[in-house]
Amino acid sequence: MATIYSTSPLFPDLVCRMEASGHSVVVNERWPDLATLEVADALISLLSNVVDAQMIEAHGTRLQVIANVAVGFENVDLNAARAAGILVTNTPDVLTESTADHAFALLLSCARRIAESDAAVRRGEFPAWGLDQAFTGLDIHGKTLGIIGMGRIGTAVARRGRLGFGMRVVYNTRTRKPEVEQELGAEWLSMENLLACSDFVVLLVPLTSETRHLIDRERLGLMKRTGILVNVSRGAVVDETALAVALREGRIAGAGLDVFEQEPKVHPDLLGLHEHVTLSPHIASATHETRYAMAQLAVENVLAVLEGKPPLTPVA
Ligand code: NAP
Ligand code: GLV
Repeated sequence: MATIYSTSPLFPDLVCRMEASGHSVVVNERWPDLATLEVADALISLLSNVVDAQMIEAHGTRLQVIANVAVGFENVDLNAARAAGILVTNTPDVLTESTADHAFALLLSCARRIAESDAAVRRGEFPAWGLDQAFTGLDIHGKTLGIIGMGRIGTAVARRGRLGFGMRVVYNTRTRKPEVEQELGAEWLSMENLLACSDFVVLLVPLTSETRHLIDRERLGLMKRTGILVNVSRGAVVDETALAVALREGRIAGAGLDVFEQEPKVHPDLLGLHEHVTLSPHIASATHETRYAMAQLAVENVLAVLEGKPPLTPVA
């Protein structure tokens, strides 16, 4: 019988599934609870749980698998896990469409000023209808959508833009994606050209040493003044201070942000910006269906490893 430490409450049927396989499940939201970690054979972790080398070496000696309930896994020290013979898994694919929906929701909200006009109506303001009325926004259809990070989610966002809104799709990745070029007519562009010609720039790269502050002051300066930046990847992919300055000075038109550099803190300068700006608290994959699917996949990964089988979605 193995002990499975989950740092978050799980769906009851998934707990039953693990218990029916003969394992005991300890749900403990206090992270890190080192006493629990020391007796755990498997860890079901969240993105907010930093699993570092010291923790793995000193307290993870029994661990066989760390199943991160997220597609990103920069919170886990992969080298330390590998050195300790611990498998690490994530939850790709099952969250792709929901995350793409949210990215597009942010894009729409910024362009058509949904969040700020909603707040105004609730304050009792109802601007008069006019040719240049308050909350006049930017068109989306027919515009250029620039995707930085054309992977699973980037491709799903590109489909929404191309097939739903008739947008021209341009993208940047380290390697070209011929299948997306063929399916959606997407064009690969250098980062500089993409930033210069896109009306909407959507970030969907993982956070790595290469992508940290990928969008900095200089690159923000390449964007159109009417451009909108949407970030659903990781906060640190953007230099938030530089972004707040660019927005305040009108060097770009707006930003839709689901992720922030110091979560759960949000840069105070961003909080003061409303026009064409929509902020959400890292909820891009948060639908009932998708969160269940993510938890289920994490549990299946844990059970596979505990049964001596290869996990379904190991991290490369
Ligand atoms: P994915 O399929 O691995 O796609 C990542 C893409 O980024 C790949 O196409 C990769 O292509 C590209 N890339 C990597 N480094 C790059 C660089 N330096 N410059 C340009 N492109 C680069 O991952 P995914 O499933 O789409 O997820 C993407 C990210 O979204 C996750 O890592 C996570 O951080 C974030 N996410 C956030 C939420 C949320 O709740 N906000 C939800 C899900 C995912 P090349 O290797 O060819 O460059
Ligand atoms: C969420 O941010 C994820 O990486 O799944």
